[in-house]
Amino acid sequence: MRHIASRVSQLTGEGALAVYVRAKELERQGRSIIHLELGEPDFHPAAPVVDAVRAAAAAGRDRYCSTRGVPALREAVAEYLGRTRRLTVTPQEVLVAPGCKMALALAMMALIEPGDEVLYPDPSFPIYPSFTRGLGATPVPFHLIEKNRFQPDLAEIAGKITPKTRVLIFNSPNNPTGTVYSDATLAGIAELAAQHDLWIIADEIYARILFAGDYRSIRSLPGMAERTVIIDGFSKSFAMTGWRLGYAVAPVAVVDALDMLVLNTFTCAAEFTQVAAIEALRDATNAVDAMVAEYRKRRDLFVAGLNRIPGFRCLVPDGAFYAWVNVADTGLAAEQVAALLLEEAGVAGIAGAAFGAEGRNFLRFSLVSARNLLEEALERIERVSARWRAAVSR
Ligand SMILES: Cc1ncc(COP(=O)(O)O)c(C=O)c1O
Repeated sequence: MRHIASRVSQLTGEGALAVYVRAKELERQGRSIIHLELGEPDFHPAAPVVDAVRAAAAAGRDRYCSTRGVPALREAVAEYLGRTRRLTVTPQEVLVAPGCKMALALAMMALIEPGDEVLYPDPSFPIYPSFTRGLGATPVPFHLIEKNRFQPDLAEIAGKITPKTRVLIFNSPNNPTGTVYSDATLAGIAELAAQHDLWIIADEIYARILFAGDYRSIRSLPGMAERTVIIDGFSKSFAMTGWRLGYAVAPVAVVDALDMLVLNTFTCAAEFTQVAAIEALRDATNAVDAMVAEYRKRRDLFVAGLNRIPGFRCLVPDGAFYAWVNVADTGLAAEQVAALLLEEAGVAGIAGAAFGAEGRNFLRFSLVSARNLLEEALERIERVSARWRAAVSR
């Protein structure tokens, strides 16, 4: 085998995909599977957005375009963040990328040096530690535990900061726990960032999928605009996963660095999707509110049902579209429970260790199937729970 650069061996994949592959295999064998493994909405973009992409392609908006993103979209993002998150952002502080993941990768490439330490939450999106390692840096987890309602412990974070710490990444609402960081948590992280001169990468991809109150971005806190990179995009809030469109909001010097990385890699995001994304941000049909209202109904139904399963315990998530279930009381390993659910009940979820060691006693279910399917999933889980019921002392 010819040599492959060692950084690739530092990277890890995403657990959801492996479960999806097995679930699809079972379906090919004729089994009925309820898919709750991928973080992909079962909604599609609103009709005006689809019309807009058609019109943009027909109008010849299919050329190379600005490496930073189409100016009208960057203006629309700045306006949208003012309207929905009360942030003061200029279009010059916005850079468009094909997907949040790409925006995240660019930001990490721009800010992290080999040998640096990067703080990140455990459990969380597995790409944070993976890509950190790929850049030759060390991922340092801080833990989101059930006892703290999955809010980070500021003293733990403070204790893990060293002279090598350069970046703190977090995601609120968090995938997989659904935790929305409290104002006190955000203020505490901001204070630590200022004290230790850290960059913050705030992955706000679920900011619109919120079940109570208004979203508060860490960038809105005093002094934070100059040290925060927001990552957001269209995949979750506008059900546009396959369109591959995201953006970073950062100080102009960082945007300049990201721009250089864009120029050296993908050149630009597709022009016609960017043009149509302006329509998504306009949200003329209030599609986001309707979608979030449906997620709320699913959350209420599914979480209440999960809490009736012997050995299962699930806190009510405040945002995102996941149920994060503690299955330790079943007496089985989370991997065994996940395998029983998939192989015997035809319900696909993910064992929590895929999101970090702290997730080892948990399962994640995505609330991306209709309510009748979620009800059916609960019935199936209830039936299979006979396998561990004897172990549960209630
Ligand atoms: C926390 C988090 N960040 C980023 C992403 C990736 O977003 P995109 O599909 O826009 O690349 C996901 C997708 O699951 C996610 O959960």
